[in-house]
Amino acid sequence: MTRKLVGFAGIFSALLACLVVLVIGSPSAQSEEAQFVFGTPDEPAEAWLLSAGGRIYDRWWDALDRDEPKETHPAYPADGNKSGSATWRCKECHGWDYRGRDGRYGSGSHYTGIKGINGAKGRDPALIAKLLRDAPHGYSAEMIKDDELARIAAFVSRGQDDTARFVAPETGAVKGDKERGKAIFQSVCAACHGFQGKLLNWGSTKKPAYVGTEANAAPDEVLHKIRNSHPGAAMINLRAFAIEDAAAVLAYAKTLPQK
Ligand code: HEC
Ligand code: HEC
Repeated sequence: MTRKLVGFAGIFSALLACLVVLVIGSPSAQSEEAQFVFGTPDEPAEAWLLSAGGRIYDRWWDALDRDEPKETHPAYPADGNKSGSATWRCKECHGWDYRGRDGRYGSGSHYTGIKGINGAKGRDPALIAKLLRDAPHGYSAEMIKDDELARIAAFVSRGQDDTARFVAPETGAVKGDKERGKAIFQSVCAACHGFQGKLLNWGSTKKPAYVGTEANAAPDEVLHKIRNSHPGAAMINLRAFAIEDAAAVLAYAKTLPQK
């Protein structure tokens, strides 16, 4: 009799535990994911450091879980097409190919006339960090903390890919091994994006944005995401592998459906 009661009590508490997990979710699983997206490994590998810096080059407030800036960046040209937070992204002034006015942003809606960061390759990261705190940049410690600034400085110094080798600056044509890209896409990217790259849509139902859409519209941006991941998202990156592998995925991604 007693044993039966214990049994019932056991089942009851197990059901209660299930209910708690259903209602509030598993707190440990959630914080593990947040740790992956926003945290730092105990012993950061160079590949981790450079990709984390690469995500700050993008929407750093999403990468770092900070407030999104509201004002337009004071150094953004008055005759430029953008305003507000977009003008605080490094990429908006310096380009996804890191070549500024000499690259893909040399014309079109993203034109600023500002030079690239490719000339700063190999520069002392401490000097780069200082340059980002000072005018004309003005990234304050509330926006990007010192240890985070060290990551973006490391990216500028040692993490810039030679994107123009794989994405033609004039035409956006991509050089990469499509068959190799197919193998990587189907076995890595498809886990989240699906075989067609259509499982996640960051556009709208009417105007969808899939991997294929983005790879054709902004191949240099997609190469950057493949190498550094997407800020604020639990996405993998291929930084630890050869740049040719990332270019191969990009070449294959261009063949995927755009709508
Ligand atoms: C609003 C526009 C703007 C944004 C956003 C911006 N920069 Fe700059 N950046 C400039 C300007 C202007 C210069 C000076 C260019 C010159 O000397 O002709 C510059 C220069 C640089 C240089 C020096 C290049 C060289 O060859 O000496 C580096 C490195 C750099 N920026 C990195 C960054 C990084 C990293 C970010 C993001 C954290 C960033 N910038 C965001 C406008 C911007
Ligand atoms: C573990 C899951 C996961 C894997 C694996 C993954 N991604 Fe992602 N990816 C995401 C998530 C989540 C987002 C954010 C989507 C959003 O903003 O709605 C994203 C965003 C993107 C974006 C850009 C979105 C934008 O707004 O510009 C591209 C491009 C992309 N992924 C390509 C790839 C490619 C190529 C691979 C393989 C190398 C890959 N992803 C692997 C989860 C993943």
